[in-house]
Amino acid sequence: MMSTEKRGSWGSRSGFVLAAAGSAVGLGNIWGFPTQVGQGGGAVFVVVYLASVVLICLPIMLAELSVGRAAQLDPVGSFLALIPNSRWWLVGGLGILAGVGILSFYSVIAGWSLAYIWFTTTGSITGDADTIITFFSNFTANGPLTITLTLAILTFTATVLIGGVQSGIERATKLMMPVLIILLLVLAIRAITLPGAAAGLSYYLRPDFSRLSDPAVINAALGQAFFSLSLGMGTMLTYGSYLHRKENLLSVAGWVVVLDTGIALLAGFIIFPAGFSISGFDPSTSGPGLIFTVLPRLFSELPGGQLFGGAFFALLTMAALTSTISILEVPVAHLIDTHKWSRPRAILVITAGTFLLALPSALGNGALGVLTQLPLIGISFLDLMAAVWNNFALPLGGLLMAIFVGWVWGTDDALAEIDRQNARHPSLPIWVFLIRWVCPVAIGVIILYTAFSI
Ligand code: PHE
Repeated sequence: MMSTEKRGSWGSRSGFVLAAAGSAVGLGNIWGFPTQVGQGGGAVFVVVYLASVVLICLPIMLAELSVGRAAQLDPVGSFLALIPNSRWWLVGGLGILAGVGILSFYSVIAGWSLAYIWFTTTGSITGDADTIITFFSNFTANGPLTITLTLAILTFTATVLIGGVQSGIERATKLMMPVLIILLLVLAIRAITLPGAAAGLSYYLRPDFSRLSDPAVINAALGQAFFSLSLGMGTMLTYGSYLHRKENLLSVAGWVVVLDTGIALLAGFIIFPAGFSISGFDPSTSGPGLIFTVLPRLFSELPGGQLFGGAFFALLTMAALTSTISILEVPVAHLIDTHKWSRPRAILVITAGTFLLALPSALGNGALGVLTQLPLIGISFLDLMAAVWNNFALPLGGLLMAIFVGWVWGTDDALAEIDRQNARHPSLPIWVFLIRWVCPVAIGVIILYTAFSI
């Protein structure tokens, strides 16, 4: 258990892998990935996404875990401890801001998922595709309801965190993850066998490489990979700081990446076949409502669909909660470690601040939508939050982390931390090359390319 006096640590290695996977697997995989694939033109997005995961995100995950475990502190404290009297702590500061920004819109969507447990089990969503879409817009336009749901998600997250990292997160994830995977597999099989599913599969699997020249697609894929793997804002750094010294970070990171990417890909095998089986379906215009409008149709095609639907949204909500816990832990750990606040006070203040920032996202689709619809850029506040934090803040955090570990703190110290048993896995020299050259150059080019094309 964590307290201000003694930092917590994970009960076991599988406990840590599960907790880190619990952080990674969430709305990013099941809600975000299919939505982004839809907006990014299908399979070409998937290709760029996978390249980002392997060449950029996996090396950065190792870097973050090694910094956190070496320093055993929050993101700001870790940079200060490893290179005192420098400005590198600002990278940790950026991560803390990103944490609050991401949590503010994440908790709104998690609230939608919470409500859909009820809607699907009670059979409230029936009818043709248009009726289901109208249901979704009416629901999200109900401001008092969406605000209450957001508050429920934040309150639950805060309550779990008060108990500390290990007892809350490890236990919840251990139960949830296997059931979630089985349910996703069943749904994928049903979706693939629906009439019309083939068009969805080819959209998902056959890349149209002409879209590769679109900087928005590349930037979105990189941002989505960071977001889905909980990278670039110090979550993995913070979780790594609670990890025992004897664990080999390479295998821990490998497991998390495989689980997270596998679940995102699986979600695509559900949404696109199921979506394309509905006539007139256009993945590029569905936006954040994609899964909430496609999946209820799929459930209505399944025997026992109400139960299935309820179980699905219950698991999605739980997956979202193991992520919200890890996001909130970043600013909270900072206030505890660096500013010596008590855990409950840190949690209360950050949760209240996040809730205020969440209000415009929660209200964006209702009567107040006009106020939160930003006339200049023509997107909602929620979309704006997602774009700013996911597409820019996280890759920027990753870029700075790569430069820090590759060039400032140094790969020798990082390697000693990654592999304390001196097992010298053959891939480690490749890691050194990726973190020093490939990550900074690739992320830098993508950020500049995107910035100049806006
Ligand atoms: N990775 C989480 C998801 O996919 C979201 C998240 C982002 C968690 C950043 C922590 C940090 O849902």
